[in-house]
Amino acid sequence: MRVALLANLKKNAPTWDGMSPDQWDDLDSEKTIESIMGALRSRGHEVTFLEGDIGLVEQLPKVKPDICFNICEGHFGDAREAQAPAILEMLRIPYTGSRVMTLALALDKPMTKRVLTYHDLPTPAFQVFERMGEPLDPSLHFPLFVKPSREGTGMGVGPESVVQDEAQLRRQLERIFTRYDQPALAERFIEGREVTMGIVGNLVSPTARRMPEDENAPRIFKGLHIFPALEVDMGKYPIEEAGIYTNRIKVELAEDFHYLCPAPLPESLVEDLRWYTAAVFRVTGCLDVARVDFRLDMHDNNKPYILEVNPLPGLNPGYSDLCIEAAAAGWTYEGLINRILDEAAGRYGLEQG
Ligand SMILES: Nc1ncnc2c1ncn2[C@@H]1O[C@H](COP(=O)(O)OP(=O)(O)OP(=O)(O)O)[C@@H](O)[C@H]1O
Ligand SMILES: [Mg+2]
Repeated sequence: MRVALLANLKKNAPTWDGMSPDQWDDLDSEKTIESIMGALRSRGHEVTFLEGDIGLVEQLPKVKPDICFNICEGHFGDAREAQAPAILEMLRIPYTGSRVMTLALALDKPMTKRVLTYHDLPTPAFQVFERMGEPLDPSLHFPLFVKPSREGTGMGVGPESVVQDEAQLRRQLERIFTRYDQPALAERFIEGREVTMGIVGNLVSPTARRMPEDENAPRIFKGLHIFPALEVDMGKYPIEEAGIYTNRIKVELAEDFHYLCPAPLPESLVEDLRWYTAAVFRVTGCLDVARVDFRLDMHDNNKPYILEVNPLPGLNPGYSDLCIEAAAAGWTYEGLINRILDEAAGRYGLEQG
């Protein structure tokens, strides 16, 4: 097939005076782009890279791809990850991964949590702050975890995200409002282990209805491949990171990633994590690939809490969680990338190979 790889390269991103140093931490490196192109070419596809900006409108009709491999994170706007797919839909070009609605939803953590809550899926209790003076909901208790509503790669997440009292809460809100110019999400702080689960595939059965309340109802997995759980080995990181999977660990220390995969967890807990992952994938409308992040409450028998879903998980072959998980399952990087492509091609009824 003729494949256009669409991504936002860190080195192509706009810059301006006074921009935050972590502004483009979620964008991709040339290494990732080259690796994905290599993986697609290894299966005989003809691959062109296009920067995922407004130039797509002009470039795509020239390149005429059969399908786009989309990993665009976007630059600006509260639904920036949904912008390239919106263009692709206007141009009627097939693309890999989740569609506009899911990408916009998942970028907004509070919106995602509202959907999870409707389906009775466990996510930490929360409150969204849009202004400095908003009072704290009396049902929430310190310590709380306070982060931006719409960032990734640990942007705005550091030891100061854990707030112990009103004064610290207000300081963190101020930081988020000034630096990220968006609402802040305050959640119950889940103290415990950090686990992430990767998934590729698509559900084959009808899935639109509300999750059954009965916990003995059959669990729907058919069509999904869930990789082994990856635990971030927090004990190996500098004490200043305070046991949190911070921006610093995800960017500065990324090449020196400490993890356990498969995570050493009891089988029944892994089974619940697999089920929650499939359920989150389903209720947020993910397609082809996603990663779901969890924390296990050490004060409640490792009860899992869903932090977020990433429908555009990092695909750096060296250190991205999903790639490590796939490798732990015996998959090659080429196998992973081409499975994502083939899942999408299958949905559109395109001839594969
Ligand atoms: N409620 C919470 N309780 C405890 N720790 C939390 C909580 N929310 C977030 N964290 C910590 O902050 C990290 C980053 O949070 P989250 O996954 O929401 O952000 P992110 O920046 O979008 O991550 P990603 O890189 O996966 O896109 C988590 O992996 C976890 O270590
Ligand atoms: Mg995360």
